[in-house]
Amino acid sequence: MGLPGAPYGKLWTWLDERIGLAELEKLAKKKQVPVHRHGLWYYLGGMTLFLFVVQVASGILLLFYYRPSAEEAYESVQFLMAEVEFGWLIRSIHAWSANLMIFALFVHLFSVLLLKAYRPPREVTWFSGVALLAIALGFGFTGYLLPWNELAYFATKVGTEITGAIPVLGRFLVRLLRGGDEVTGATLTRFYGIHVAVLPALVTLILGLHLYLVQKHGMSVPPGVEQRGGATRSMPFVPNFLLRDIVGWLCALAILAALAAFLPAELGRKADPFAPAPIGIKPEWYFMFMFQTLKYLPSHILGLEGEIVGILGFGLAGLFLLLIPFLDRRAARGESSRMFTWIGIAIIVYIVVLTYLGYTASPTR
Ligand code: HEM
Repeated sequence: MGLPGAPYGKLWTWLDERIGLAELEKLAKKKQVPVHRHGLWYYLGGMTLFLFVVQVASGILLLFYYRPSAEEAYESVQFLMAEVEFGWLIRSIHAWSANLMIFALFVHLFSVLLLKAYRPPREVTWFSGVALLAIALGFGFTGYLLPWNELAYFATKVGTEITGAIPVLGRFLVRLLRGGDEVTGATLTRFYGIHVAVLPALVTLILGLHLYLVQKHGMSVPPGVEQRGGATRSMPFVPNFLLRDIVGWLCALAILAALAAFLPAELGRKADPFAPAPIGIKPEWYFMFMFQTLKYLPSHILGLEGEIVGILGFGLAGLFLLLIPFLDRRAARGESSRMFTWIGIAIIVYIVVLTYLGYTASPTR
């Protein structure tokens, strides 16, 4: 049909002949979203995507002023906060949006887990999702160090030290991450490269695959709804679902603006590698449950160092999460699989409780 009236009609035809707009229009019109009582969870992937776009936009603006060296990083962020017009706001939005994005991503992950959206043929959608989770955590870990302040410096020191406990590869991985034996300017440059080039390249590929697969397979209908005869209604993606998406994004933007304006990101003191580590170093909240688990483990378990057992445990848990579509055979056959629902709930409870303890238990490290 195209857009009505000249000159839009002419522009539409011109573009259509060159890039095939009519095909895109047909595709957009065809996409339908099932309507049922769990439909709210369909908005979480789009919310994660929106916050990711905010990250890219605010990150590019930060790049105009940021300098990735131990001598200048802290000062460049200080300048941005104090001198550049709205610099503090852009930095605060980047920091808050990162937290909101990871939160939305966790909710998205657990909602698709509990609604068993990983059933065939969506296994690869799930695998690409797990890869996106790893990438998002990588963004958080590398970005934290970039302001080169005291807290970030020591949190990175502890975080990379934990990698060293991995059997066989540990020492190599620490040196690879740090660019040497210690956290230095070389680590900062490396984290910067990973944060602004390596991870964005990976995310472009994998997010592209994820969204393509969502488009290809359409939205899944949860087993509970299917057993009751499936979703009886659906709504067009354009414009009905998309407009609802946009309402959610505007609400997120309002929350983001309020958080950034009233609780702006802090900078603290510049990192000093020779100063003693401050008491109670804490990682970002999304690493807290792992950090706290490692703290609770005894120093030796079955003749192995406690930390090594913990890291192996998290490695296996990550592998388990990845392989869920293959392990949950009952769901794959369309039967009810309560065990995996309970496993999902147990993981959520574990993460929430350990995170809570991480913030309330007295600092021992
Ligand atoms: C940057 C991170 C991510 C983005 C931007 C993203 C984006 C999206 C979008 C827009 C959708 C369609 C709407 C929806 O179902 O909510 C979707 C669906 C899906 N995502 Fe993600 N996602 C991300 C991470 C993940 C993770 C961590 C997982 C799980 C490990 C995952 C698994 C899935 C699955 C299985 C679907 C299909 C849902 C269905 O058909 O009902 N995604 N994702």
